[in-house]
This record gives sequence, C-alpha cells and structure tokens, in this order.
Amino acid sequence: MSTLISIKDSRFISDYLAKMTDLNALTTAGLFDKNVPRYTSYPTAPHFHADVGRPNFAFWLETLDISKPVSLYIHIPFCERLCWFCACRTQGVTTLSPVVAYVDVLLKEIAMFKKTRPEGLKLGRLHFGGGSPTILTPELIDTLMAAILDATPFDEDYEFSVEIDPTACNDAKIEAFVRGGMNRASIGVQDFNPKVQAAIGRPQTYELTRDTVESLRRHGVPSVNIDMVYGLPFQGLDELKNTVELVQSLNPDRVALFGYAHVPWMAKRQQMISEDSLPGAHARFEQAETAAKMFADSGMEIIGIDHFAKPEDSLSIAARNGHLRRNFQGYTDDRCVALIGLGASSISRFPQGYIQNNAATTNYIQSINAGDWSAAKGFSLGMADQVRARAIEALMCDFEVDIEALKADFGDFAKPVRADCKRLAKTYRGFVEFKKGHFRILPAGRPLTRIIAAGFDAFNAPNHRHSSAI
Ligand SMILES: C[S@@+](CC[C@H](N)C(=O)[O-])C[C@H]1O[C@@H](n2cnc3c(N)ncnc32)[C@H](O)[C@@H]1O
Ligand code: SF4
Repeated sequence: MSTLISIKDSRFISDYLAKMTDLNALTTAGLFDKNVPRYTSYPTAPHFHADVGRPNFAFWLETLDISKPVSLYIHIPFCERLCWFCACRTQGVTTLSPVVAYVDVLLKEIAMFKKTRPEGLKLGRLHFGGGSPTILTPELIDTLMAAILDATPFDEDYEFSVEIDPTACNDAKIEAFVRGGMNRASIGVQDFNPKVQAAIGRPQTYELTRDTVESLRRHGVPSVNIDMVYGLPFQGLDELKNTVELVQSLNPDRVALFGYAHVPWMAKRQQMISEDSLPGAHARFEQAETAAKMFADSGMEIIGIDHFAKPEDSLSIAARNGHLRRNFQGYTDDRCVALIGLGASSISRFPQGYIQNNAATTNYIQSINAGDWSAAKGFSLGMADQVRARAIEALMCDFEVDIEALKADFGDFAKPVRADCKRLAKTYRGFVEFKKGHFRILPAGRPLTRIIAAGFDAFNAPNHRHSSAI
C-alpha cells in the first residue's frame, strides 16, 4: 500500500497525468465547484464543542502512556508582517513587547504541562509553528527550549522542526534553534514573482530566501522544506513555473504545494485581495498539475495530495512503508500517539479525542494567568468517529481504505464505512474501485481525493463553508 508515484515508473506517471486532464469527468464529479475540508483532522475543527475542554485535557494528559513518546506543538501567533493571503492564526506586531509577554505565559503553560504529564514522558517530535516562530529573539528561543526540554526531554530519535519566515530570521536565531536541537526547517516562499508578492502583501526576494536556506545548511540543519502556494492573485502558469524552477534551484528535501484557500469570511485580511485577480478553477487545476509534473520530473516523489519529497527523505520512506500520517501541520511521518498543542489556538490530539486552546490570544493569556488550562473546545472520539477518522486519513495519505483492517480494529463499527465504500464506488465510478474489501482512489480520481473523503464524513453538511476542492 504505497502513497508514492515513483518517477521510475514513467508509464504510471504519464497515465496519472494524462488521466488528470480528463476535465469533463472531473467537472461532473464536482472538482471545480465543491468546497470541502482539507481533512487535517476528523472531525474537522468547526465540529469541536465546549462540552469537551479543561477536565478532559488534564485527564487525557495525565494518563498518557509513557512507553510512547509524544509530539509537542508550540504556537507563536505573531508576525512582523501580515501577508494578506494568510489564513493562519496570527496577528501583526510592531514591537517585541507582546511577544515577550506571550512567552511568559507560554512558560507558565509549559510548567503546568510539566506538573500534569506523567513522569518519564519523552518528546518524539517538537514543532514550532505560527505565525512566525522566527519573530522570537535568540534569548526567548533559549528560554523556551530550556523549559520545554526540562518538562519532557527528547527521545533518542526526535525531530524538531521550525517554520521560518526568511524576512524575520537571521543567523543568531537559526543558531539558537539549532542549539535547542532543530533538525528540520520549513521555509515560506509562496511565489517569487514581484507582482504576485505585491498582491498578497508579502515581498520576499529569491536572494534572501537562498541565503536563509544556505545558513540553515551551514548550521547543520539536515532537512529543509519549502512552502509554495498556487491559485494566488495575478499568478499565471508562467509565474508558477518560474517559482517552481527557483524553488528547485534551492534543492529542498520537501515541498508543500498548497492551493490558495480564499476564505475572507474567516481570514478578514484576505479582503485585501480582489477576487477578480484570482485564477479560476480550471487555471488552478492546470497550475497544480504543472507544478506536480515539474517536481516529479526533477526526481521528487509525490506524497499524498500536495507534498513532494526526495526519495531518501523520511516522508517518502514513510509513504513507501504505508506509515504516512496526516495531522494539523499536513503530511508527516510522525507516529506518536498524542500531539499536545501549547499556545493560543493550538490543537491537541489524544487517543481519546481533540482539544483546542482558546483561539483569541487575550483569552488564552487570561486563562493561563489565572492558573487554568486554556482548553476551550474539543471532541471526544467514539468508536464510530474513530473508524471514520482512520478511513479518511488512509484516503488522504494512501488513497485507499482497507475494510478488513478496519473490521479487525473496530468490529461492527466498520459496517457504515463499508456501506459508504459501496455508495461512493457508484457515485465516483471510473475514479474509484471497491474490490475485495479495498476501496481505492484510482490515479484519475486523485484530484477528487478531498471530495471523496468528504463522502465518509458524517458531519459534512452540504452548505458548510470550506475552501475550494482544487
Ligand atoms: C504559518 S504559515 C508560514 C510560516 C512563516 N510565517 C512564513 O510566512 O514563512 C504556514 C504556511 O501556510 C500556508 N498558507 C497560509 N495561508 C494560506 C492560504 N490562505 N491558503 C493556502 N496556504 C496558506 C503558506 O504556504 C505558509 O507558508
Ligand atoms: S504567511 Fe507567515 S509571515 Fe505571513 S502572515 Fe502568515 S504566518 Fe505571518
């Protein structure tokens, strides 16, 4: 069960790409007019509710199994610049004082985490995301890292990744993160074209980005990811191709190619982007297809719906071995059973369910300063939810659901999923197959993966507002 389209199998690749151009059939299946979740969790965050909160968080944390390392996510919700396209939970700041005050509160939350977690817990993964973690000074990075590692030391095989905005980064910050153990970095590029950059409020030269990548490598960071976005304002195929070539020249180990999610009703700053300047659905499809081909032709493996990785990268290896996972940061080879999110708006995933901290930074600060957790809402996973969560994650990662494996783990709870497989095999005939207990999205149907996954989502109300499926 592999997620990979190996470039060595050129017949498979050309088959895949040829079928991807069957626009009429994809249109009929809803590719260009359906809005569906990105399924970084199931159920998705809009379905979390206030009945699951602080008591669950404390109990789920204190009863973690210490024989298995956990993942920790630290959210830094501040940026020196506020890019108009960005849908992340963050706010612009002009001075460092709100950041310093926030780190103080984060340290209190880390101390609460240390007091509650079972003794002996180890850290398998650590991720700093945002916002822009590189807004932190080297001193703040050192202080945070000392507190985190005092609360939970790294496991032998740990990975520590940081999201890096090259315009808010320097050698001293990279050195501080490396001192703390950073061994993966993710750099935001989006697009290198000046007109596109002006339209998304995010100027960033190629030279600065190249210097940041070089600095990371010079400081011994072995793995660099680059984030790109297609479907941006004034971004045509030429702009996109040029950005892909420039990104390739930086020799990244991984690339994430996200479709621009235009959700101005949620991310108010996107109201700065005129809808007339956005490429249409067919143009977006062509962009995704072209960039995928360029990355595949350069020797990268295609991972899931929107990532690319060198064949020797651990993401490719995980995909080959059927161990690819999907979490709030996208695709990962993280196999930790729990992901604990600290900081405003962070989401935790425990075997029993999800919990999200207060999204508003002021509310988060108030709770933690009052000595309480900031867990605001969540979702407790019953067996019926867990089996759907597993099926949707398997589809997003491997394009395949194995009903026998679900039956072995969930017994009769797998029955409704099997019924969905039968129903969806009819709805998406030609794009999927359901044979011998295996539901598979065929290469021609891969652009429809999120739409097909939504067919297994018991909460997916047709009028719910999500981003475009392509
Ligand atoms: C926390 S942000 C970026 C980290 C860092 N602050 C930077 O700008 O380089 C993580 C990534 O989310 C993606 N992203 C943000 N808003 C998006 C949107 N509206 N649609 C698609 N991708 C988006 C971008 O690729 C971005 O690099
Ligand atoms: S893309 Fe990065 S720098 Fe720009 S607003 Fe979003 S988090 Fe901040």
